[in-house]
Amino acid sequence: MTTLHIDSSINGDTSASRAISRSIVDRFRGDRIIYRDLVAEPLPHLTLEAFADGSVLDEFLAADTVVIGAPMYNFTLPSQLKAWLDRILIAGETFAYGPEGPKGLASGKRVIVALSRGGLYSQGSPAAALEHTETYLQAVFGFIGIVPEFVVAEGVAVGPDQRAQAIDAATGVIERLAA
Ligand SMILES: Cc1cc2nc3c(=O)[nH]c(=O)nc-3n(C[C@H](O)[C@H](O)[C@H](O)COP(=O)(O)O)c2cc1C
Repeated sequence: MTTLHIDSSINGDTSASRAISRSIVDRFRGDRIIYRDLVAEPLPHLTLEAFADGSVLDEFLAADTVVIGAPMYNFTLPSQLKAWLDRILIAGETFAYGPEGPKGLASGKRVIVALSRGGLYSQGSPAAALEHTETYLQAVFGFIGIVPEFVVAEGVAVGPDQRAQAIDAATGVIERLAA
């Protein structure tokens, strides 16, 4: 079983999403782990020429489990992660348009997202409408036939206690997903 592990936080060793994605990979360890750090080795913005290189897509298609560290930056994803998504949402490969509308072609793999947010955006909170990280990832993976699972640490910028509590809660969610 191959696990593709992706990180996209610019915060290095202090990153919450990197710590959580690492814990998920440690817990779900397959025989083979492929690691892609989108900050250490960024993918360029999408160009027409980039479509000719299917290596990022092939790596995604070959994985049984994909673990993604996804921090909220400016209410959405880091652009590094968007550049990666631009290479896996490919018509005819991961989705197709047919007479009944779009159809996801990438089902059968497990996608687990380690998501960290500085503020509080859960349903019912005043800032919920500004949440475009979890909702966007839910939509794009849904579009290609995958229901992603989320391990969320939120409020990590509220203060050290809230950060510790959020990361503890995320660890509990990882245990439940692994059970
Ligand atoms: C460039 C940047 C933009 C951010 N934008 C937001 C934001 O829009 N909303 C928010 O709640 N937190 C925001 N934060 C805080 C991060 O979501 C929070 O620190 C989170 O832990 C980042 O994950 P990381 O530690 O893995 O990098 C931002 C942080 C950075 C560095």
